[in-house]
Amino acid sequence: MANAVIIGMQWGDEGKGKIVDLLCPAFDGVVRYQGGHNAGHTVRFRDQHFSLQLIPSGVLHPGMLCVLGNGMVIAPDHMLGELARLYEAGVRFDDRLFVSNRAHVLLPCHAQLDKAREEAKGQARIGTTSRGIGPAYENKASRFGLRMGDLFAPDLEERLRVQLSKVQVELESLGVSEPLQSPATYADQCRGWAERLKPSLRDTEQLLNTWIDEGKSLLFEGAQGTLLDVDHGTYPFVTSSNSTAGGACTGTGVPPTRIDGAIGVLKAYTTRVGGGPFPAEIEGAAGEFLRRRGNEFGTVTGRPRRCGWLDTVVARYARMINGIDTIALTKLDVLDEFDEVPVCIGYQVGGRMIKELPADLRSLETAVPVLRTLKGWRRTTVGTLDEADLPREAKDYVDFIEQEVGAPVTLLSTGPRREETLIREHGSLARLTSGRLGKVLEQR
Ligand code: IMP
Repeated sequence: MANAVIIGMQWGDEGKGKIVDLLCPAFDGVVRYQGGHNAGHTVRFRDQHFSLQLIPSGVLHPGMLCVLGNGMVIAPDHMLGELARLYEAGVRFDDRLFVSNRAHVLLPCHAQLDKAREEAKGQARIGTTSRGIGPAYENKASRFGLRMGDLFAPDLEERLRVQLSKVQVELESLGVSEPLQSPATYADQCRGWAERLKPSLRDTEQLLNTWIDEGKSLLFEGAQGTLLDVDHGTYPFVTSSNSTAGGACTGTGVPPTRIDGAIGVLKAYTTRVGGGPFPAEIEGAAGEFLRRRGNEFGTVTGRPRRCGWLDTVVARYARMINGIDTIALTKLDVLDEFDEVPVCIGYQVGGRMIKELPADLRSLETAVPVLRTLKGWRRTTVGTLDEADLPREAKDYVDFIEQEVGAPVTLLSTGPRREETLIREHGSLARLTSGRLGKVLEQR
């Protein structure tokens, strides 16, 4: 049975939630491995819309195993809220949702610090989701962090005292005078959360490897996107975790030798939220038109997303960094009304054309996109299930992407609903779904 990782090939918001939901019938479990409640996807269940941030969207599929891996930072209060909403809607997960004892705890003070830092930075702000993700990962790296299993530790209050005093000092230096809650109050809160989450806490590294031994197949669900990875993204305008394929190993304890390949999710154009370089960004009416047609407003923060044309420099880089075997191209229908569809195929930097993504931020900030303009199709593609029904120009657009990026497009999404997905039965997708594409087609 195959285990696959699913990765955003841009700056997040590529539509991974829908693709995970679509592919669930081909897997036994879905595993999150990094990030926290900065991620967000909306999924439909029994005519209701759910906004899930921490829990993998697989939870809505009866019997699907769900794991929140050690690489995540988890706000227990937020998690309990999400679980309660699911429970109210009739979703049952008691025997199939597991949280790593080694995942780090994100505390309310981390969010306070995240907000205060962003406010202090003014124009230079990263534009974080203000959830406390950066401070929580900093605590982990500096070895002051609390892990989910530590919520039961006898010295919990003392450990909280150390963390809180550090955060308090920094908050004061940023001009926040309001004191944090006392370590004793925090400890009480933490113990309450711990009791409620206890039934789902496990050494998930053990669990996941045992499941693989038993022949189960797992889908590792990346949050954010390649260009937001703390190592490989547009640093410092990134999130604080490894959102690329490598993170699936460190963030779950499943070794690279047990992961069989990567599915890349690529939006037919580009968006990003927050600050940072974005060479293919379009200003003005065309950008506004894309934002409205694509409903490009953040799931977590509601912020309008910056919009741009598809950037194959970015997509090629994502293919390389993640070893993408197969691509799910999303939101093609958003481009349906354009006369022409430009694609960024390279950058002019310092008087020369480059086709690889530079590490240097200044080069990225000054990069002038080199555009190739393709003919638009000006016909609806919504819900197209048969390749033969795609407008010729839309097919050319897909072919062009495959050539430029160097991986086959095997899923083509032309609407938010599961059934609005064209599936090409290509070998790369069949392999990563363990030959269970028939099941995916049945439930599409
Ligand atoms: P943080 O993850 O909240 O620290 O934010 C760091 C950067 O990542 C900011 O530019 C955010 O807008 C961006 N970001 C974080 N999560 C997501 C996501 O799920 N989709 C898109 N951008 C995100």
